Amino acid sequence: MYACRIRDLTKEYVLKSETVRALRGVSFDVPEGDYVAIMGPSGSGKSTLLNLLGCLDQATSGELYLGEDNVSLMSDDELAEIRSRRIGFVFQSYNLIQQLTVVENIQVPLYYQGRLGPKERQRCIELAERVGLGDRLDHRPAQLSGGQQQRVAIARSLVNDPYFILADEATGNLDSKTTAEILALFDELNEDGRTIIMVTHEDEVAERAKRVIRLRDGLLQSDEQNDPEERKAAAARALELVPSELA
Ligand SMILES: Nc1ncnc2c1ncn2[C@@H]1O[C@H](COP(=O)(O)OP(=O)(O)OP(=O)(O)O)[C@@H](O)[C@H]1O
Ligand SMILES: [Mg+2]
Repeated sequence: MYACRIRDLTKEYVLKSETVRALRGVSFDVPEGDYVAIMGPSGSGKSTLLNLLGCLDQATSGELYLGEDNVSLMSDDELAEIRSRRIGFVFQSYNLIQQLTVVENIQVPLYYQGRLGPKERQRCIELAERVGLGDRLDHRPAQLSGGQQQRVAIARSLVNDPYFILADEATGNLDSKTTAEILALFDELNEDGRTIIMVTHEDEVAERAKRVIRLRDGLLQSDEQNDPEERKAAAARALELVPSELA
């Protein structure tokens, strides 16, 4: 099974005086359980690609399948439905609601769908525990560290049982120790079978993925598997930074 399949995807932004060809025909598949880092210079189309995968925007041409669903044929309403029910986003800036507690922030996607019963509340508590915040359920974002806030965002991204976790520079605001904690969490979630697609500028982050896709000028420049032994070694190096109760 595939988390997604991308066929000759293009995206053009039409401005007054010019057309920007942000993606110029990109094709690749992501099997379920994969862990992909998307890299490339500024302006190469990484965020554009992530926005298409996240159903935040519609491609100009080409095909995008999420699971078995051909998203390229969907209306805006159908896209919005998929986005709220089957996509998990994690952003650099966490995007938490300051007035809400940890567990309430995790519940937000369900609240918007009117699907928040006792069973769902319990599941959100379990997700908070899963990301190591079982003792912080009633904290608000301002009472949490950056790494803890990003864990809330990761738990929230899982609440919908998404096709994949989409992370755009998810560790961009974090120091190296906290980055190591978040990447250790991604490793665990990936070992649980979660598919992860993340954009990063940093080699130390990309080497933790199973696979690295490089974009250049809106085209796929390379698509390579990371060596499993080197991945393990990179994870072990990073773990030395993490306090033992989390390791
Ligand atoms: N909404 C938009 N309207 C017009 N042009 C856009 C828009 N969004 C992106 N672009 C252009 O599309 C190209 C790809 O942008 P994109 O944001 O995908 O790059 P990126 O690889 O994410 O870069 P960065 O590493 O700086 O985040 C750039 O030339 C950018 O200027
Ligand atoms: Mg970007």
